[in-house]
Amino acid sequence: VQVLSVASEMFPFVKTGGLGDVVGSLPVALRAEGVAVTTLLPGYPAVLDALEGPVRVAEMTPLPGVEIALLEGTAAGHHLLVVDSPALFRRKGNPYLGPDGADWPDNGVRFATLSRVAATIAQGGVPAYRPDLVLAHDWQAGLAAAYLHYDGHPAAPVVHTIHNIAFQGRFPAQDLERFGLPPHAFAMDGVEYHGDIGFLKAGLHFATWITTVSPTYAREIQKPEWGMGLDGLLRSRSDRLVGILNGIDTDDWNPATDPAVLFPYHVGDFRARRPNKRAFQAEFGLRQDPDVFLLGLVSRLTGQKGVDILADVVPRILDDRTQLVVVGSGEAAMEQAFVRLSRRFSDRLACHIGYSEQLGHRLQAAADSLLIPSRFEPCGLTQLCASRYGCVPIASRVGGLADTIIDANAAAMACDAATGFLFFPTDPDTLVAAIQRGGAMFRDPDRWSHLQRNGARYDVSWGHKAREYAQLFRRVLGRNDAVSP
Ligand code: ADP
Ligand code: GLC
Repeated sequence: VQVLSVASEMFPFVKTGGLGDVVGSLPVALRAEGVAVTTLLPGYPAVLDALEGPVRVAEMTPLPGVEIALLEGTAAGHHLLVVDSPALFRRKGNPYLGPDGADWPDNGVRFATLSRVAATIAQGGVPAYRPDLVLAHDWQAGLAAAYLHYDGHPAAPVVHTIHNIAFQGRFPAQDLERFGLPPHAFAMDGVEYHGDIGFLKAGLHFATWITTVSPTYAREIQKPEWGMGLDGLLRSRSDRLVGILNGIDTDDWNPATDPAVLFPYHVGDFRARRPNKRAFQAEFGLRQDPDVFLLGLVSRLTGQKGVDILADVVPRILDDRTQLVVVGSGEAAMEQAFVRLSRRFSDRLACHIGYSEQLGHRLQAAADSLLIPSRFEPCGLTQLCASRYGCVPIASRVGGLADTIIDANAAAMACDAATGFLFFPTDPDTLVAAIQRGGAMFRDPDRWSHLQRNGARYDVSWGHKAREYAQLFRRVLGRNDAVSP
């Protein structure tokens, strides 16, 4: 099966969050399932720089007044097709935001172009490569299914994956022509969304199948409280909606070989983490004390992640037996809140404001617990890394967190299944209570090591999740018989 994966970011080239990780690691896992993935990416500078032996395979005018060259090549072992347009994509830094932190004003045209090129490739517009199926990620690839629909001639089916329903890609109705869509597309059973054009809405409406990144999130987004306006549409398509959990790249996330880990150790051998904790406390100017309960946060600092709630309760959770290290970047107010707290509680709280892949890894090898107080979480990847690294997650019971963490309640402890601490709803009191539960168990080393060991046994790899994708693809293509064992 040949799949064209269409995305706006991909690790290790460009990443703002878990979307990049998944787009970068799923193709490798799918290969083992007999699925060959080619990824279509915008030609950001980092992508063009990484591309080995690029060949110009086509030139196109995907949208009125937009000219692009399509490059084919490999990078970091991936087969890539790259939309090269100096005017749209040769911009350094964050793929969505300008230096002022605001969305690029032409994001609509930029990602309509990406989706239009995807649709053209799916129709056989590039002689060298024709996919059987399009895998479209998030709003940035949402219009692909709409273009295929309005073009009207048979082409590859589209599986649309929702990584985060909070980002919907809404643009003014008057852009319809600029996006190369026919006037009748502006309708409720088209791309119209509350008087605007909705890229994600279009994708969910026209996709052959819809996936999202955990079973719980698949259920949540069909409810008004969580669907962010798209729950009705999703309910109407519930027979074509499935949640498949994310995995992580267990080669990248291996504490025995991870270059960011100062004192390598094997998964499961968690006593060997001790020097990492000490070195990390030193690196952040905190007291080097193995008996302190060291909490960590690695996250985008946004409302989704509930980090404002964490900031509010910091005075209640930090004492001379509890420390917190924050590695994160995002909304200015939340960044400033943690900087202020690190001044006020300088002996207990330290932060690195910014994006650091290295510190993100090192924290997982050093902290006792990872805090994930998300208000909603489609899947979440950091809890998977944490379990593998012996860092016990304390998380809200939402979305993929509910599916991948087993709460340390009496029953789960009794049968040796527990891997962390869950709380709900996401509010200050439940968060404080969960941290206190965690702290109490941390001070009982025997029980704590059970949590760590159970976490290490939990399968965070892509393995069976990639198989679920492969089975879905074969089902969509009517090739059920070809499912491999
Ligand atoms: P989301 O995609 O919503 O941000 P995920 O948990 O799916 O959440 O993925 C986040 C990814 O980004 C993880 O790989 C995490 O380690 C990483 N990450 C987030 N913030 C930072 C940061 N400031 N520095 C380093 N890595 C980060
Ligand atoms: C989104 C979600 C996150 C998920 C990631 C990858 O960024 O916020 O929960 O893990 O996508 O699917």
